[in-house]
Amino acid sequence: MSSDDRSDRNDVSPATRLTHAGRRAEWTGRVVNTPVWRASTHLYESEAQRKAATGSDRDGEFFYGRRGAPTQWSLAEALTEMEPGAHGTVLYPSGVAAIAGALLAVLKPGDTVLMSDNAYDPSRSMATGLLKRLGMTHAFFDPLDIAAFERLVAEHRPRAVWLESPGSLSMEVCDIPALTAIARNAGAVSLMDNTWASPLGFAALEKGCDIVMMSLSKHVGGHSDLMMGSCSAGERWYRALRRTSHQLGQVVSPDDAALAARGLRTMGVRLERSTTSALEIADWLAAQPQVTRVMCPMRRSDPSHALWARDFTGGCGLFSFVLASDDPEASGKVVDALERFGIGYSWGGYESLALPIAPHAHREAMPSPTARKGGHACAIRLSIGLEDPEDLIADLARGLATLDTK
Ligand SMILES: Cc1ncc(COP(=O)(O)O)c(C=O)c1O
Repeated sequence: MSSDDRSDRNDVSPATRLTHAGRRAEWTGRVVNTPVWRASTHLYESEAQRKAATGSDRDGEFFYGRRGAPTQWSLAEALTEMEPGAHGTVLYPSGVAAIAGALLAVLKPGDTVLMSDNAYDPSRSMATGLLKRLGMTHAFFDPLDIAAFERLVAEHRPRAVWLESPGSLSMEVCDIPALTAIARNAGAVSLMDNTWASPLGFAALEKGCDIVMMSLSKHVGGHSDLMMGSCSAGERWYRALRRTSHQLGQVVSPDDAALAARGLRTMGVRLERSTTSALEIADWLAAQPQVTRVMCPMRRSDPSHALWARDFTGGCGLFSFVLASDDPEASGKVVDALERFGIGYSWGGYESLALPIAPHAHREAMPSPTARKGGHACAIRLSIGLEDPEDLIADLARGLATLDTK
C-alpha cells in the first residue's frame, strides 16, 4: 500500500504521527480506529466498473480480498507514514514471510546474497535452504569488519545484502551507512531486518537501506497475540515487493491487521517504558558475580554503544547476558527459577520473556562475543515488558541464586 498523497507525514513528531497514521475518512468513517472489513468478494456496480478495477492495479481500490480492504490498507499506510523515505508497505502473514517476500522480490537464479553473520536464524535458513534450491548463492560476513565486507563484495558481486542491527541474539550494532554505501557502489540492494528498533528507533531507509523489513509480531503487535510482517521501501522496490507478494498470494487477515493497528498506536510509549526498564535491569545484571557480560548497545559501556548513539533514536527491551558458569545447563536452571518471566520465543510483548541462547551457534564468518573473550556460550536473552523493573530484578536475583559463584 503506497501513500504518496499523505504529504503531511513529516510535519509532526513520530509520537503524534503514531496516533493518526493510516486514518482516512473514506476508510474509517466517523470512528477513531479503522474497523475490521472482512471481505473476500468485492461487488461491482457493473461490468464496466469491474473491468476498470481489474485493469487499474492501484492501491487502495476494491478489487478482490487477496489485495486487502481498508483494514489492511490503513495499517500498511500507517507503517509507511512511520517509515521515513518509504513510498509504500507490503504486509505479510509473518516476519519470516516478509523476509522470504523481500529476498524473492530482489533475487533471481544465479544471484548472490551476502548475509550478515548475526542474522536471525530463519533468515540464514532462507539463504542456505530455499534460496539455494532456487539457484541463488550466499555467503555470510562479519558485519563489524567493513574491510572484509568490501573484499567479499568485490569477490562475489552480490545482487543483495541482508543486514540485521543489532543482531537479535548477540546485539552488536553495525555501521549500516558504511555497509550500504559499499553495497550501493557495487550495484547491490541492501535489505535490513529492523525489528529490534522499529522506525521509531532507526530510520533504515534514510540510513542507506533499500528495503526495510519488520516482524510486526513483536513491538507493533505488542500483545503476543498476532503474527505478521512488513516490508517498506521507496517506489521502485515497493513495486517489486508488491508484485512478488501478489504472485505468492500473500495476504493478512483483517482481524490481525486491526490488532496490529491497535498495537501500533501505543508502540511509542511501550518502547519507552521497556527501554528504560531494560537499561535498569541490564545495569543491575552487569554488577552480578554470576554474569560475565551484558550485551545491550543502549548501555554506555557496551562496545556497540558509540554506533548506536550515532545512528539510533531509540531502543527496546531486548538484550542478552552471558553467564560465568561452566555448567552447560546453567541458563536453563536460571530461567526455570524465574516466576515473573515467561520462557518463550518471540519478544516485544507487554509480558517479559527469558530464553536460553547460544549466540555463536550458527556463525560462520564472525566470532561470537563469548568466544572472543574465551568465555562460555551459556547466555540468556531477555525481552523486558511493562512490569515494574524492581519486580523483574528480584526475579532475576532468584534465578541467578541457583548458580554456584564459588
Ligand atoms: C529479528 C527477527 N526477525 C524476524 C523474525 C520473524 O518474525 P515472525 O516470528 O513474525 O515470523 C523474528 C522472530 O523472532 C526475529 O526475532
